[in-house]
Amino acid sequence: MSHIRRSRPWALPERLATPERIHADRRQVLRTLGLGTLSLALPSIASAAEPADDVAAMTAPAIGSRFADLFPAPRSDAWSLGDRSLTPEQRAASYNNFYEFTLDKAKVWKLAQAYELKPWTVEVRGLVKKPKTFDLDALMKLAPLEERLYRFRCVERWAMQVPWTGYALSKLIDACEPLGAAKYVTFQTIHDPSMPGVASQPWYPWPYVEALRLDEARHPLAFVAVGIYGHAMPMQHGAPWRVVTPWKYGYKSPKSIVALEFTAEQPSTFWNDAQPDEYGFYSNVEPHKPHPRWSQRFETDIGTQEQRETLLYNGYADEVGSLYTGREV
Ligand code: MTE
Repeated sequence: MSHIRRSRPWALPERLATPERIHADRRQVLRTLGLGTLSLALPSIASAAEPADDVAAMTAPAIGSRFADLFPAPRSDAWSLGDRSLTPEQRAASYNNFYEFTLDKAKVWKLAQAYELKPWTVEVRGLVKKPKTFDLDALMKLAPLEERLYRFRCVERWAMQVPWTGYALSKLIDACEPLGAAKYVTFQTIHDPSMPGVASQPWYPWPYVEALRLDEARHPLAFVAVGIYGHAMPMQHGAPWRVVTPWKYGYKSPKSIVALEFTAEQPSTFWNDAQPDEYGFYSNVEPHKPHPRWSQRFETDIGTQEQRETLLYNGYADEVGSLYTGREV
């Protein structure tokens, strides 16, 4: 009954629910809230809403027909899904994590598709030869587009296989001209207080930021995705572009990026900042390293509903294993 006010675990006392206070002392807020309240949820995959009928609306590129001539891009045969099948587009497009819109995975696409994308730029700052800004045209045409089929594994134990369109992240990193002292790159995503999830959840440490060690970012698997399923990106997948690192949990793949910052020190990131004991900086897919609240040994495919064993580095151990000592968290 909707008129009954329930106490919600994440409801903050008024005196704490101001962004200023949260920025002043996020950790105090977290302690006040209690462990786990800002965490990613463990979803019930089977109970997710079925895709709506209006597939065209659900999958429409957020930039409309701009750059349509760049799609579909030729598919690279360098990356294979092994014995896994591609996830149906409607399924991937209607089961999303994009907290700036809502925590309800089935509702993200509708809220996101209603969002009006403003002209996009990407600022480059920090330890670079010269700070600069890319506009969307420069970003879309920075390198020839290709399609790659990647596995994708969320920390919440669901997985999918999708065709991303874009180019190697190393191309963008090179174009940013980082200085030799730069060891990390941070991706800052869109911060618009009018987005429904930002407006209604001021206790999160907005904006959503993620970061990689520079050698990870330069790894050939790390990808700038400007499209999915053969067309430019729909908003719910992170239009107009996002980063994809398929050997890491999905939250290390930030959506709708507006700035890159190069630093010598390891930067703080959204989930690591919110819950450091649950979400490490590296967050590689490692089946034998349980999340504090659940095992990571198994995963469920959101397309086929199949339950299967989680693979080390999400099946990319041969490619990325040499980046790590095994002690990274
Ligand atoms: N990027 C932003 N800006 N905001 C988010 O909430 N969620 C992350 C990641 N990138 C998130 C984000 C998480 S937890 C996951 S699992 C993936 O996006 C989900 O990507 P998908 O919805 O395209 O499948």
